[in-house]
Amino acid sequence: MNNRIDHKLYSKEDKPVKFSEDMLKRIGEIILHYPRERRRSVLLPLLHIAQQELGGYLSVDVMDYVASLLDIHPIEVYEVATFYSMFHLEPVGKYVIEVCRTGPCSICGSERIVDQLEKILGIKTGETTPDGLFTLKTVECLGSCGTAPVMQVNTVFYESLTSENIIQIIGDLKNQGNNKPLETKWVDLF
Ligand code: FES
Repeated sequence: MNNRIDHKLYSKEDKPVKFSEDMLKRIGEIILHYPRERRRSVLLPLLHIAQQELGGYLSVDVMDYVASLLDIHPIEVYEVATFYSMFHLEPVGKYVIEVCRTGPCSICGSERIVDQLEKILGIKTGETTPDGLFTLKTVECLGSCGTAPVMQVNTVFYESLTSENIIQIIGDLKNQGNNKPLETKWVDLF
């Protein structure tokens, strides 16, 4: 579930939004995997593609565009996009750090990890570093309670976090982030 600490009002900017012809063709193929009466189920994969292809986050314009492609009401897209923490409603950094804050991770020190990350990165939870490299978020259970405390950075999992290995992880990501373009792997989703 999404864990926004602030409740912002997102507004439509009426910016032109469109998938490329190639992407529309690919989406057409994906839609065919779903029975006609279950077409709205394609919403989740479509939102993943939209987020990766159309700027890294789901603006109101992007969500409205996705709604128009599936011929559903925009509110149906907003409901899904705001429920799942993997969808971002505003620009995020190259690396989105999501620290689990649910019971087992909390007992094992996730608050301390978040405090430390805020200090290292110089931002508060929910913010992005000025260089656009990191966004820090907290989320509910990431499904690895036995190795708490846990965090996820984009699609990579980090378990049994400690004050020491956090410094190493962020250092490595900084080096990597400044030297290597981020790989997008939406094709792996299907
Ligand atoms: S409580 Fe953190 S992974 Fe489950």
